[in-house]
Amino acid sequence: MLFRSLILYFCVQVLCLDYSKINLPNDHLPYYFYNYPKIGQQCETDSDCPYTYVHSDKCWGYEYSCTWENQYSIPSCPGDHRGWVKTKFDQQNTFYTQADFGYIKQQLRELKVLCEPLFPQDSSLECSEHMRFCRGRNIMINFTSLLTRDEPLRYKMDVLKEGEIGGFCEFHQEQLHAETDQISPLQSWGPELRYFTKLNKRPIQEGDCDITIEKPTYIMKIDATVNMYHHFCDFLNLYASIHVNSTHWEAFSTDVHVLIWESYMYYSTFEGAWKAFTEYPLWDLKTFMGKTVCFKNVVFPLLPRMIFGLYYNTPIIYGCERSGLFKAFSEHMLHRLHIPFHKRKDSKIRVTLLSRVTKYRNILNEDALIDALRENNSYSVQKVVYNKHIDFKTQIELTHNSDVFIGMHGAGLTHLLFLPDWAAVFELYNCEDENCYLDLARLRGLKYVTWEDKTKLMQEDEVAADHVENHAQFKKLLDNYSYHDEL
Ligand SMILES: *[C@@H]1O[C@H](CO)[C@@H](O)[C@H](O)[C@H]1NC(C)=O
Ligand SMILES: *[C@@H]1O[C@H](CO)[C@@H](O)[C@H](O)[C@H]1NC(C)=O
Ligand SMILES: *[C@@H]1O[C@H](CO)[C@@H](O)[C@H](O)[C@H]1NC(C)=O
Ligand SMILES: *[C@@H]1O[C@H](CO)[C@@H](O)[C@H](O)[C@H]1NC(C)=O
Repeated sequence: MLFRSLILYFCVQVLCLDYSKINLPNDHLPYYFYNYPKIGQQCETDSDCPYTYVHSDKCWGYEYSCTWENQYSIPSCPGDHRGWVKTKFDQQNTFYTQADFGYIKQQLRELKVLCEPLFPQDSSLECSEHMRFCRGRNIMINFTSLLTRDEPLRYKMDVLKEGEIGGFCEFHQEQLHAETDQISPLQSWGPELRYFTKLNKRPIQEGDCDITIEKPTYIMKIDATVNMYHHFCDFLNLYASIHVNSTHWEAFSTDVHVLIWESYMYYSTFEGAWKAFTEYPLWDLKTFMGKTVCFKNVVFPLLPRMIFGLYYNTPIIYGCERSGLFKAFSEHMLHRLHIPFHKRKDSKIRVTLLSRVTKYRNILNEDALIDALRENNSYSVQKVVYNKHIDFKTQIELTHNSDVFIGMHGAGLTHLLFLPDWAAVFELYNCEDENCYLDLARLRGLKYVTWEDKTKLMQEDEVAADHVENHAQFKKLLDNYSYHDEL
């Protein structure tokens, strides 16, 4: 008995990795194993490992040893850069740094140790420039004084005061203060970390904390949870931050906590999306109000409203499209949320019209439009309404199984993130904010068409359909099912 449990123990410690902590789409595994070849090699010999390790040179693009040819994605820049840069390569590289895995690389290169551990049990704090991304070990946060706050906390820059966050480490105070130059709630971690203090003893060892959080924790300042465009900006930045912090084979694990930096109870129709990141209920400031909490491992992720951040209001170089970061994010979410891709029954182009049953911005002649589309035998047309009566995952599934996605200007168009690579988005009447979904479609690498002239509506639609039909990936898909002869 003792012998058996010893073997089991040994196994847990050395051999039997919990492979469920990897849980990535198959297409991402070569990139994952590039960074953790030891895990890959162990996988080769371990019958419990669900993955086949194939040695490859493919890398995400932010690794030091990664070459331009081997990276996950190379931006496509068919258009003119309108004078931003000198060469085609500069144009691609600019896009790569602004909106692709080059953005992660930039964050990694910027990381600076602001509080330095001298011994393994010490605290540590590292941040990228302007405190856009930070991570720490053995960090103490004192939430005691929150008990005296009456007002609910959201987008507040005074959640913490001097001395309410700190660690036992060699503190480079001036360097830290030099980085606190973007003080705004969702732009940086400056509003919180400007109050970082050097403690005179190790908080965990000395018993200063009421609670010690062992598991890695992401502390998140989030945008508007009611709006898909804004909330998915939070999720994209969280995904990007996992890559920034992926120095450990368990980096993508959901065995982590998320603490929302608000005292409001979290509510969102998109709540299901968190399942891609954590297997635990979300925490908020109320969870720890009145307590001093030590985090053994904490990440302060990239924020949704950073200057030159992603993807809100960011100028992105002209002429380029198809960010690998956005594609990987989409695939990661689809995989983690178990969204199926249905086998096609025919070669028809699947057209989905997103209907809005609100007072404003309804598509007035919606039914006429649908009838007209249905007249064309090459289309399979469905009208959908995405509201609280349809489960969020079902919505994503409907979107993911569309080739052409038609919708009025509005946050629902954020669904385009989950369309297949060959898809086209047709935005009807882009009334305000002209570029917002055009840019998102560009980042995701999709064809974008908009209604410019009512009389040309059907022509615009054919532009979208033609794009799908002529897309290499779509052709391959149909070839695979041998539908090409039915066309
Ligand atoms: C936390 O802050 C309170 C005051 O708000 C203070 O009384 C307490 O000593 C602090 N705890 C630690 C461990 O510093
Ligand atoms: C961040 O990276 C560190 C390694 O540098 C790792 O120990 C920690 O678990 C990671 N944090 C999260 C939240 O994954
Ligand atoms: C039907 O749609 C296809 C694909 O867009 C297009 O090529 C064709 O001309 C359309 N047929 C009619 C009758 O409009
Ligand atoms: C083609 O079909 C095979 C077997 O059904 C499948 O594994 C493969 O992913 C398909 N390829 C494409 C491009 O759909």
